[in-house]
Amino acid sequence: MKALLIAIGLLLLALPARADSYQEHDYILNCSGCHRMDGTGSKNVPSLHAMAELRGKPGARAYWAQVPGAAQAPLNDARLAALLNWLVQRFTGHSPSPLYTEGQVKRLRRTPLTDPVARRVEIRDAIPR
Ligand code: HEC
Repeated sequence: MKALLIAIGLLLLALPARADSYQEHDYILNCSGCHRMDGTGSKNVPSLHAMAELRGKPGARAYWAQVPGAAQAPLNDARLAALLNWLVQRFTGHSPSPLYTEGQVKRLRRTPLTDPVARRVEIRDAIPR
């Protein structure tokens, strides 16, 4: 009985950490500490589900690659590009179009944002041209 309980306990511990792709694995290791497994965020960390309201707005793509959590992640440019493609699909329901490329991410992360919160408001409230 005790062994069974331990086995169930271990299974429950392992479940939330199950990763189906290396992008999800990178998310769990590098992002979920702040953003949580389901992206809902934590104290002072906004929900990634709000990414949907920025979708298609000028500057949003660059912003998502330039926020400190993404730009400064210990992942190479190709891995970060793949992670962002996965992340945008997961939290907006649509793949970024065009997809992020290694070269684009390399360029974007060289200029991290000084005030991400203000930049997000600018993008969200921009009057469409
Ligand atoms: C230390 C905590 C922390 C970690 C780790 C972290 N983030 Fe964040 N993230 C934040 C905070 C806080 C914000 C809100 C903007 C800001 O203040 O930087 C944010 C905002 C974002 C946004 C903007 C979403 C939107 O539209 O508002 C994206 C995209 C993002 N993070 C992706 C990532 C990715 C990808 C990783 C992992 C590689 C990651 N973050 C790791 C704290 C973190």
